Amino acid sequence: MGNAEKRIIELREKILDADYKYYNLASPDLDDYEYDMLMKELEKLEKENPSLVTPDSPTQRVSGKPAKKFEVVTHKVPMLSLSNSYNFDDLLDFDKRVRTALGERSYEYVCELKFDGLAISLTYEDGLLTKGATRGDGTKGDDVTNNIKTIKSIPLRIKSNKYKNIEVRGEVFIKKDDFIRINEEQETRGEKLFSNPRNTAAGTLKLKDNRTVASRPLNIFTYFLRNEDGGLKSHFENLSILKELRFPVNEHSKKVKNIDGVKKFCDEIEAIRDGLPYEIDGVVVKIDSQEQQEMLGSVGKSPKWAIAYKFKAKEKVTKINSITLQVGRTGTITPVAELEPVFLSGSTISRATLHNFDEIKRKDIRERDSVKIEKGGDVIPKVTEVILKDRPKDSVPFPEPKKCPVCGTKLEKPEEEVYIYCPNYFCPAQIQGRIEHFVQRDAMDIEGLGGSIISVLLENGFIKDYADIYTLKEKRDAFINIERFGVKSVDNILKAIEDSKEKTFDKVIFAIGIKHIGERTAKLLAKHFGSMEKLSKASETEIDDIYEIGPSIAKSIVDFFKDEKSKVLTGKLKKAGLKFELDESDKPELKESFAGKVFVLTGTLEKFTRNKAEELIEKYGGRSSGSVSKKTDYVLAGAEAGSKLDKAKKLGVKIISESDFEEMLK
Ligand code: IVH
Repeated sequence: MGNAEKRIIELREKILDADYKYYNLASPDLDDYEYDMLMKELEKLEKENPSLVTPDSPTQRVSGKPAKKFEVVTHKVPMLSLSNSYNFDDLLDFDKRVRTALGERSYEYVCELKFDGLAISLTYEDGLLTKGATRGDGTKGDDVTNNIKTIKSIPLRIKSNKYKNIEVRGEVFIKKDDFIRINEEQETRGEKLFSNPRNTAAGTLKLKDNRTVASRPLNIFTYFLRNEDGGLKSHFENLSILKELRFPVNEHSKKVKNIDGVKKFCDEIEAIRDGLPYEIDGVVVKIDSQEQQEMLGSVGKSPKWAIAYKFKAKEKVTKINSITLQVGRTGTITPVAELEPVFLSGSTISRATLHNFDEIKRKDIRERDSVKIEKGGDVIPKVTEVILKDRPKDSVPFPEPKKCPVCGTKLEKPEEEVYIYCPNYFCPAQIQGRIEHFVQRDAMDIEGLGGSIISVLLENGFIKDYADIYTLKEKRDAFINIERFGVKSVDNILKAIEDSKEKTFDKVIFAIGIKHIGERTAKLLAKHFGSMEKLSKASETEIDDIYEIGPSIAKSIVDFFKDEKSKVLTGKLKKAGLKFELDESDKPELKESFAGKVFVLTGTLEKFTRNKAEELIEKYGGRSSGSVSKKTDYVLAGAEAGSKLDKAKKLGVKIISESDFEEMLK
């Protein structure tokens, strides 16, 4: 074995081990930089020695070419589905059937969580992961091997003499907080939102481009093992074998002696359900002994040795007393269902958003309807269905409003949007909404200045907009004199207002309430432009060019700063002393060759990861863009650069190599 080969093996070992520690054990032993360096070295050696590339190399987790379509895979052993039970009596019946079928034999159960994701099957041949497939209809699924390989908690090779030719099954899922983050990113890019973590995971596994798949945080819990060479006896033991083979196995799985143990498990899990970082919809109960599983067999598509205990749907039926209209800070009119209050998973619900009028039409939701409401993703209640048979005879569809319910201005509906807007910037609801947005915790964080105090201040003419908040200290005595406000609470508010001047520049960008600008985008903008001055002068193309920022955001920023009213507002804030620039410590260390220059990266870089190169460009005051245009200053071209390089040549943009780039960094 040559030196290169030895080193390659050593590097792979180190990287896969680091993946395992990071993804499966959540205790990383390398930092990002060390990890990147090992990966770079491995990529370089493999490039120099293409014959040494093997499918279990960590470099093979992401392949370059998008798949055209997925091949069909026939499962060697069908992937069954579980019959469901919804109450404990069903479980007692199940237990009775098991007892009868097994005669006098004693048996034990394994209880597991029922993960709300999608089932997949992994085939290992001679220790090597050769196939990853979706469940499909249980008999045939899609070959999604390339997508599965991007999940770093899944071993590409297993090290065992006993378990070499195996099939492992499990559930692929996305954690609740990752789901929220992915949707925020989708929103920022103006792309379609996912409805829940399960759909996000399913949609991701079916993407054709596995680079995108790799960027999504997919997880897996494995719960099934089949060994071609036999020798497996108990499901619970299988779970520990899976764990030893370095597959992720959920820590809540438990062996219990009898159906009472099952009940206890179900109750315990239901109590902690909301606090789990991933979604579950019940518990799965399985007979532990494999021999007994075989004796019990299956009926249709469901095994008789297992059952799912589904938690009660977090759903209730109630009545819509009326539909009211809410006017948001940007003028959006949101219809809200005012409900007959009902108790649903831990809280009383009396309102549910109906989102927009397209949604009302689609579900044909009307006042006085009986409806099903559900708590989606354990957070916001939504109306899922109208119970048509209970609809009052004289019911009529809810009309789309023509005038703003607060200020009476004629409403507008932009052609490409689903929302209806009140165009009156001075609509009292919008004024109040903008101020509430400005003071909220994630923006200027002015504690104590809640909605009701804001409306009193507005009514009494103390403030007209959010910038006026900073003049309140001059009106301290009058403020105190307004009925209900004590000296102490007023002083606390005034202090919180003063303290808010220390909030960083990105918080200020978020607080001023530009349409479509969330916290993440505000951060990107702050870092990119460095000052309000520059941001306010940026052109649409310049903003649109920022990675992760789309044209609708670019337009709304330009529109905001064009508006005289915004100029007055930001002028007042600047005078009040808010941060209109990045803090010194966050500022880029300008290098002349980078400052203000636009870079486009293309092809495969060898000495830097793409992220690292972009980070350096930004650090020294340049910025990187996704597409080549006349405004591009440099195209940094790595190996196998394609169309961007051609375009750069055509436009006469300066093309630099990695070593040129390194020179510039010096
Ligand atoms: S065992 C016959 N275990 O539920 C055994 N399935 O309805 C079936 N699921 O397709 C698989 N958590 O997507 C099993 N701990 C668990 C599970 C689980 C979720 C899903 C899986 C399967 C469906 C069966």
